[in-house]
Amino acid sequence: MKILAIESSCDETSASIVEQGRNVLSLVVASQIEEHKIYGGVVPEIASRRHIESISGVVKKAIKDADLKISDINAIAVTYAPGLIGSLLVGVNFAKGLSISTGLPLVPVHHLRAHIAANYIAHKDLEPPFLCLVVSGGHSHIIEVKDYTTFNIIGKTRDDAAGEAFDKAARVMGMEYPGGVQLDIIAQKGNPYAFKLPRPKVQDSLYDFSFSGLKTAVINQIHNYNQKGELLCIEDMSASFRLAVVECLSTNFLKAAKNLGYKKLVLAGGVSANSLLRERLSEECKQNKWKLYMPPLNLCGDNAAMVGSQAYYEYLYGNIANIDLNAFATKSIDTQI
Ligand code: KG4
Ligand code: ZN
Repeated sequence: MKILAIESSCDETSASIVEQGRNVLSLVVASQIEEHKIYGGVVPEIASRRHIESISGVVKKAIKDADLKISDINAIAVTYAPGLIGSLLVGVNFAKGLSISTGLPLVPVHHLRAHIAANYIAHKDLEPPFLCLVVSGGHSHIIEVKDYTTFNIIGKTRDDAAGEAFDKAARVMGMEYPGGVQLDIIAQKGNPYAFKLPRPKVQDSLYDFSFSGLKTAVINQIHNYNQKGELLCIEDMSASFRLAVVECLSTNFLKAAKNLGYKKLVLAGGVSANSLLRERLSEECKQNKWKLYMPPLNLCGDNAAMVGSQAYYEYLYGNIANIDLNAFATKSIDTQI
């Protein structure tokens, strides 16, 4: 079964053809990062307009790159939630149009489910159940993936997402959007113990995260330096901040694995590209003799291949949308459409 998948939840317009949920026949990603950089973050209105301009060409190229015709496709899949509503609507409406004109079934895919599915593409042996840490620009969740379409959230952030915290810390240190990647690179040259930063814990929860206090601590320390007219070593601050975020994420994730008895762990989402997070989790899992699956770097960020992978399992489960499918800015991973 060949699925044509579309992703437009944020600032990447992407289309992909995926066979049987695991084989990527083509993947096209048109990034808008350069344009949003000058504003220091994604401008939703601009993002929607760029999606409208590029979606048709991106989809055509995905079909052409796979050396197929639209008549070779068996279903259309699209990210319908969560994300920027204007951006999502472009993908959803385009997919609906294709579904009407071709008569092909329309498969709605949740963005975080798709991030998890990026691992099915890279690791052909990976099957649920497993415990997953999903960390992106908008979410930080610890999720029990019971089967391909059954999810149980056992921990999440109470305020900022990990990626958001990385981006904000990077921004106050003068790095370009999206700062998380830059901060990760700059941190390689710094001393992670140079600055004392908190490891915030959530009082009434074993597994929830909180990153806003950590972000404020960084901003305050930077302001103190600026007020005194002293030069801040951004390598050291980046390294200290990165260590603090990674320790918060890995501590709760590993605790959850231990307490719930999972020996199969999966990392997903844009922040799964973070080099220290990958290194830390790899070491810990090796010590515990647990199996760790991580997406390859090219599938960590937003892309339609992961949508096509998850769509296959949604289709098998019977999750087919009607033509009145809507987009949603927020929607929990454990709810059906
Ligand atoms: O999943 P994603 O591409 O988009 C959302 O669904 O939000 O995640 C983007 C987030 C951004 O906040 C970006 O800064 C962060 O992932 N990110 C990183 C790294 N690469 C991307 N954060 C830390 N270290 C990285 N290497
Ligand atoms: Zn994402």
